[in-house]
Amino acid sequence: MHAEFPTNLIDVRERGTAGRATAVAHPNIALIKYWGKRDEHLVLPRVDSLSMTLNVFPTTTSVRLAPRSGSDMVTLNGRPAAGEALRRIVDFLDLVRERAGLAHRAVVDSENTVPTGAGLASSASGFAALAVAAAAAYGLDLDATALSGLARRGSGSASRSVFGGFAVWHAGPDAGSAEEADRSSYAEPVPVGDLDPALVVAVVDAGPKPVSSRAAMRRTVDTSPLYEPWAVSSQADLIEMRAALLAGDIEAVGEIAERNALGMHATMLAARPAVRYLSPATLTVLDSVLRLRQDGIPAYATMDAGPNVKVLCRRVDADRVAEAVCVAVPGGAVHIAEPGPGARLLHGDGR
Ligand code: DP6
Repeated sequence: MHAEFPTNLIDVRERGTAGRATAVAHPNIALIKYWGKRDEHLVLPRVDSLSMTLNVFPTTTSVRLAPRSGSDMVTLNGRPAAGEALRRIVDFLDLVRERAGLAHRAVVDSENTVPTGAGLASSASGFAALAVAAAAAYGLDLDATALSGLARRGSGSASRSVFGGFAVWHAGPDAGSAEEADRSSYAEPVPVGDLDPALVVAVVDAGPKPVSSRAAMRRTVDTSPLYEPWAVSSQADLIEMRAALLAGDIEAVGEIAERNALGMHATMLAARPAVRYLSPATLTVLDSVLRLRQDGIPAYATMDAGPNVKVLCRRVDADRVAEAVCVAVPGGAVHIAEPGPGARLLHGDGR
């Protein structure tokens, strides 16, 4: 469905829009998970969530207005986008066009550096970079909060990648108009004490997902008797997590993150039919994480909509954790990430 545009469209040059822009954004990993929407169209979540933006695998996206083109042209890693991926990007551009009052189609070129099958979703970095680049190209003057809300409309988790370090995404109040709800669901930075964390990404399976996270979320909310209890406990987890981050308490941060993720997967396992992303290799890595803790290394696991495991630990322990995980899953790949920067526009020379 295409948005309706105002009829009195203004020429790009009169608006003084950039006409083209390039932005870069990084993936984030949720320590308190986003799982479940209360409004699919507006991408309004059922719960608040909290994440760490990573310093690895950025997505770089350029948007150039194409006033004479009849359709958007989207290239993802050098290939023309098609199907669902294209539809989501065109829908997103329609939203930007509606807000800007400009009907021009665009040429979008996105390069994602996540190694194939690294098990990190590219939708967070992808839509954060697209939001920042498209807003600039179409001449929308948005602050970080508004950019986060805009990125959310592309993919919920993208709202958090607008910010570097740790960010909380507010679900926003349930009452009020659609416009108010849309305006009040965005991410913002979270204050953190003396914490020097790393995230070890253990890729145990690089294959495609059996069920998309969008569909799995819907099924969980609609059918899982464990969903509501998890959503309630997740709000409590968030409060504890904020305190643990502020205190720089890696053990508490890790414990809360691990239980929150396991709880999210429990809601999926109880869905009808069950959604099971965790594989035998996932459990093998979870065992190795447990052994690390028994050896006195604070290491805690979190998993998203897939079998791969991300292990939160202290930066000084990252190599040791990576080694333990490698031994647990021979043939798997391991990447070490640290907190990374928020989304930003690149200048013409790529700075
Ligand atoms: C398990 O943000 O990819 O990674 O809003 O439907 O695009 P959509 O979903 P998406 O879901 C991410 C779910 C998660 C948890 C999280 O990142 O909080």
